Amino acid sequence: MTVITKSPEQTELLGKKLAAFLRPGDVIAYYGDLGAGKTAFTRGLAAGLGIREAVTSPTYTIVNEYLSGRMPLFHFDMYRLSSSEELFDIGWEDYLARGGVCAVEWSENVADALTDAISITIEKDPAQLDWRKITIEGGARFEALGL
Ligand SMILES: Nc1ncnc2c1ncn2[C@@H]1O[C@H](COP(=O)(O)OP(=O)(O)OP(=O)(O)O)[C@@H](O)[C@H]1O
Ligand SMILES: [Mg+2]
Repeated sequence: MTVITKSPEQTELLGKKLAAFLRPGDVIAYYGDLGAGKTAFTRGLAAGLGIREAVTSPTYTIVNEYLSGRMPLFHFDMYRLSSSEELFDIGWEDYLARGGVCAVEWSENVADALTDAISITIEKDPAQLDWRKITIEGGARFEALGL
């Protein structure tokens, strides 16, 4: 499924809609450059899960946990990891087992460990500042989004 958004708010709204279909243990693997909108999308996911805390980038912490929604959201930034072997060090398996959703920025760096994930690819257009092409793959469930 591919959706074009034309503002950060539209990207957040898409995340919010997707959240309705998520189940405990789901992994969302983002692919896309700096400033693509991965954190913006995650903000929408959090809202859709009923999370009340403000979502900020986990760049320095590697993972931020949000526990105030209908299930936990673990928001990862793998920017500084160089391979999936380093996932062990950050306790990845433990997060997977906690019955929440793991949303992973910079999945490129650990892609071989995320082959079963729902993938969300965000592409920009150098000619249109607020334009994003968002492709969601990995589950018949999401066809029902109807977008
Ligand atoms: N259609 C759009 N969707 C999402 N963000 C948009 C859109 N148009 C413009 N933006 C802007 O793009 C930026 C996206 O930032 P965001 O932090 O979500 O990116 P990111 O992919 O998480 O980057 P990073 O890899 O640095 O963490 C914001 O400044 C936002 O205002
Ligand atoms: Mg980000």
